[in-house]
Amino acid sequence: MFRKALIAATALVAVPALADTPELLLRGYAEQARTTSASYAGPSPAAGRRLFHQQPRDWSCATCHTDQPTATGRHAITGKAIGPLAPSANPERFRNPAKVEKWFKRNCSDTLGRPCTSAEKADLIAFLLDPKNGA
Ligand code: HEC
Repeated sequence: MFRKALIAATALVAVPALADTPELLLRGYAEQARTTSASYAGPSPAAGRRLFHQQPRDWSCATCHTDQPTATGRHAITGKAIGPLAPSANPERFRNPAKVEKWFKRNCSDTLGRPCTSAEKADLIAFLLDPKNGA
């Protein structure tokens, strides 16, 4: 219980308050990345696309979310439908920082075997905001 509350609090601190649009969330992650690396070049949709398709282990993001982020996905194990990740196809996406952090945490570790960095989260959102951009 306490641990859960702590994780939720950390997630909220990690992302600036009022980050309730995909663009603001993206900017928050990019600012975090800049504080960790002075040479940070800014979000890259192409890097986001590469990461989305990277499959170092059993799954890539595309395994459940399909390789077309505007399409409805399907969970690799449960078979449950997953609404599109791209905000253009699903306006509910990237509106709730705690939810976004929760799923980044779970899905990056399930897929890559490690957490995503702030720079990678910014890249992923940049790609999802304009899936064709990273092509
Ligand atoms: C094993 C299946 C699976 C894989 C693999 C997976 N996801 Fe997900 N993802 C889900 C499910 C289930 C949800 C929650 C249901 C929902 O929000 O529709 C979700 C939700 C999300 C959300 C929440 C977005 C929001 O604002 O609602 C993000 C971000 C996300 N995934 C990104 C990723 C990324 C990035 C990867 C690859 C690193 C990935 N996912 C890999 C199943 C998966």
